[in-house]
Amino acid sequence: MIVIKRIQIGEADLFKRMRLESLRDAPYAFSSTYESALRRSAESWQEQADSTAQGTDRATYIVFSDNSPIGIAALYRIARQADVGEVIQVWVAPEYRGKGVARDLMDAVFKWASKNRFHTIQATITEGNTRALKFYRKYGFTIANEISVDSSDDIVLVREVESEFS
Ligand SMILES: CC(C)(COP(=O)(O)OP(=O)(O)OC[C@H]1O[C@@H](n2cnc3c(N)ncnc32)[C@H](O)[C@@H]1OP(=O)(O)O)[C@@H](O)C(=O)NCCC(=O)NCCS
Repeated sequence: MIVIKRIQIGEADLFKRMRLESLRDAPYAFSSTYESALRRSAESWQEQADSTAQGTDRATYIVFSDNSPIGIAALYRIARQADVGEVIQVWVAPEYRGKGVARDLMDAVFKWASKNRFHTIQATITEGNTRALKFYRKYGFTIANEISVDSSDDIVLVREVESEFS
């Protein structure tokens, strides 16, 4: 059975485990590296995990299959644009891809966003990550690179948060 839960205070080890698994499995998808993540202190993991466990600006969601964590996604409010959030750290374990798990995870993120006054969600996809691009477009995101201040070839996608999620 698939269950999706917001990370809670004190679950830094779970967060660390999921980040390390995703960085090791899909280094092409993220700007940070497995090696740099390995060097982070326990306090650094705890501070980041706990900052998303409460409040209305950040949330990390973990997907469990029969109590084993198999996916992660986080939403962070953008400081200078109060109603815009960035979905980051999105990863589903390879054996659970193509099964609707990523869609369910994104639904959880959008539902939380809708309840917490986000109007738009953006995502940045690294160049060549065609599978993620296909997934986000299928989910209703559209390309909006003009709002990016990044000069790389990353693709910025946006989707409005609709009331259907509230
Ligand atoms: C991105 C991710 C969460 C999407 O979840 P998913 O379960 O793979 O998504 P889906 O299978 O529903 O959608 C992906 C689409 O790409 C297609 N696809 C599969 N392999 C592909 C490939 N090598 N190249 C291009 N498209 C591919 C799938 O068939 C599917 O399209 P379809 O529904 O029309 O058949 C997951 O692939 C993942 O964790 N990837 C590694 C981490 C990552 O890239 N994260 C995104 C960071 S922005």
